[in-house]
Amino acid sequence: MTDGDRTLTRREALRAAVAVGGSAGLAACLNLESQPTETGEANRNTDPPDGTESAAELPNRQHAWTEFSRTDKHGNPVLARHHVLLLANYVDDGPVDDVDRKQAANAFRELEETYRWASDGLLFTVGYSPAYFDRYDEPLSESVDLPRPAALAPFEDPSFDTPDLLVHLASDRASAVLEAKQALFGELETANGSEVTETIDGIVELVDRRTGFIGPGLPAEHDDVNGVPDGAVSEDAPLFMGFKSGFVENQATENSVTITEGPFAGGTTQHLSLLRTELDQWYNQDSREQRVAKMFSATHAAEDLVEGVGDNLGDSSLVSETGVGDRVSDDAFEEGVVGHAQKLARARDEDGDPRLLRRDFATVDDGRTGVHFLSLQESIADFIQTRTAMNGTDVANVGGVGTKNNNGILQYITTVRRGNYLLPPRSKRSFPRPS
Ligand code: HEM
Repeated sequence: MTDGDRTLTRREALRAAVAVGGSAGLAACLNLESQPTETGEANRNTDPPDGTESAAELPNRQHAWTEFSRTDKHGNPVLARHHVLLLANYVDDGPVDDVDRKQAANAFRELEETYRWASDGLLFTVGYSPAYFDRYDEPLSESVDLPRPAALAPFEDPSFDTPDLLVHLASDRASAVLEAKQALFGELETANGSEVTETIDGIVELVDRRTGFIGPGLPAEHDDVNGVPDGAVSEDAPLFMGFKSGFVENQATENSVTITEGPFAGGTTQHLSLLRTELDQWYNQDSREQRVAKMFSATHAAEDLVEGVGDNLGDSSLVSETGVGDRVSDDAFEEGVVGHAQKLARARDEDGDPRLLRRDFATVDDGRTGVHFLSLQESIADFIQTRTAMNGTDVANVGGVGTKNNNGILQYITTVRRGNYLLPPRSKRSFPRPS
């Protein structure tokens, strides 16, 4: 595959194929994945993984991905490398009828049978927005906190996503996320070697398709994208801003984000935002030490706690171990900077655990860098509370900290879109009724 005069590396070509999508993207992926690789990159096996035979084998929590994912050498769960987000609307007005509900249930079930439920096969979730539940006369069960999306900082003006449903496809194999979309929408006769018989074609209309990636090496491949300073993103960075994220000690557990009561017990809520990142400023305006202070804390910078992308940190960002969460206003006065992770550590629950299970990933959709910030939490209130801590409004204009300047990473990110969804338990995954 070539891009102008440049020959794309294999990894970059796979990422680019996911972004392109369609039959051309899929053909390119399948071709690349059938070639031998020495990099340990997930490949399409000549003997593809079998699908999951029985739905009963799978947990009722759609979001129970961890036990089916890789872990790194420190025990941190590793998110699949390739992601596709499908925003779609039900085609009719009013409530969804039972025939269509059954059709979609069969299509989602067939997808599980087609791919092994694992990050090297296919993991997916299906979520529903507040706009979807407006189709019904009865209100959404009070056991679920699912407000309409809103601006969550005084300095942001996002657009709001209001599709009925959001399908999140994730796999280490680029071909799987592409092929699964095409199978679901009835664009293929076979997928992963099996015949496609059940689809959501005709009952939903795709309104947007977004793509992304996460993992060492993938962001560094994109110094050709607008706004990425040449050679600035380190070769082993899993995300564009150059640091590892998602340490197990700094994430909510799947258990703690699960709704425990009512008709959606076993489900969770999902927030999806699109953040644009200003990497030119991040890498050119700041020294490495400033970047560590802004991402973690001034203590992390002064004590040199973060080496490279932060793999040395093991399974914790050390925000609780260093107690920096209690020093936010002192650091604003004394250091003139407060860190992102430091501020966020203030938003933990009564047991001292993070409220969010972050499953965010990088993107170059529309030729610009950004993050599809996807997180799971028991209630959207947990997200709002966490995001409020990140706003650092209490330390804006304290010491050397401004509304955005030296206030974590706020200066380098802009929230472009926000949307809220309910991920029902697997048994209610297809067009759930509100109660
Ligand atoms: C460009 C966007 C972002 C980047 C690159 C980023 C990166 C990071 C990094 C490197 C850490 C420290 C390592 C870790 O704990 O995983 C962290 C922690 C965290 N971030 Fe972000 N983040 C971003 C946006 C957000 C947003 C929008 C939120 C939600 C409001 C958020 C919530 C958190 C939380 C809850 C923690 C853990 C805090 C704790 O330990 O209690 N992040 N982030």
